Amino acid sequence: MDVEKYWQQFKEELSSVKNCKELENLRLKYLSKKGIIRELFRKLKDLSSLERKKVGASLNNLKGKIEKEIEAKSKTFAKEKAPSFFDPTLPKLTLKKGSLHPITYAIEEISQIFAKIGFTRTSYREVEWEYFSFETLNMPKGHPARDDVETFFLEYPEDKKLGRLLLSPHTSSGQVQEMIKRGKPPIRMINIAKCYRPNWDTTHTPMFHQFEGLCVDKNINITHLKGTIDYFVKSYFGKERKIRLRPYDFRFTEPSFEIDITCNVCSGKGEVNGKKCRVCKSGWLELGGAGMVHPFVLKSGGIDPQKYSGWAFGFGIERVFLMRENIKVEDIRIFYSGDLRFLSQF
Ligand code: DAH
Repeated sequence: MDVEKYWQQFKEELSSVKNCKELENLRLKYLSKKGIIRELFRKLKDLSSLERKKVGASLNNLKGKIEKEIEAKSKTFAKEKAPSFFDPTLPKLTLKKGSLHPITYAIEEISQIFAKIGFTRTSYREVEWEYFSFETLNMPKGHPARDDVETFFLEYPEDKKLGRLLLSPHTSSGQVQEMIKRGKPPIRMINIAKCYRPNWDTTHTPMFHQFEGLCVDKNINITHLKGTIDYFVKSYFGKERKIRLRPYDFRFTEPSFEIDITCNVCSGKGEVNGKKCRVCKSGWLELGGAGMVHPFVLKSGGIDPQKYSGWAFGFGIERVFLMRENIKVEDIRIFYSGDLRFLSQF
């Protein structure tokens, strides 16, 4: 019996085994009850007792070697196997997508609307001097108009010229700074920033956002102001919306206006099915303040009011956002409460 021949045959077959399944088949072929090795052992009985001893020993040796080889080979396949935590048959994980804050989206959109007509986006300091928030805007110390703009003051030594430090209560603080920065008209600024006032109720948060438009050049008049606001309103709220200017009083603009836009619930009619519109009561919704830049303000920014004129407006972002989305929130503070049930809707 040529035991060596079987060993060579096994090694040859083993070398062409490519996966676990083929290895198992090879194992069965040699080592199972009906396998080659058993068959050879069975044939021992036909041999002489002397030979039987010799061949039996080499058969045992062959069996051991085959078992070892199969064991070793199976380990190389184990290494190749995919890690046990990866199960390709499981459904894919769906990760929840995050989103930006709705006010961040609004800021982005407003910036783009004004970028299209050549307005440069800026932001000025949140911690500001009294000088830029009031003095240069024609609101001298002790003037009652200052009381309309409630303000957080910081505990900090007062500067002779700049006054006290405060949290900027409006984006108008950037008007004169922009004039100084540019040095010379033309100026087309859209200043978007956080503003602070000490109010905390269902319609006010102590921190909120405004966007301030400022345009200074030769021969700028009210029609330019009206045209620009109309362009913004149609871009942001929709083509069907109209605006109107209502006389008002701000210290830093003359003349000054409040801007209203037509209500989208009653389309500016003031009534729905013969009943007063519940949202606006008059057909109009208030957007914010605007006007022609006061000569005093131009002078504060080093601009000659004889040569140049300008307009400005300042609107609240939370306000325009809610007006467009047509959502009535019971409490505006929900914007900054971190409540995902509200935030994830946008
Ligand atoms: N600063 C004003 C406020 O916070 C809004 C405003 C009114 C801005 C008239 C302007 C303006 O630029 O011309 O209430």
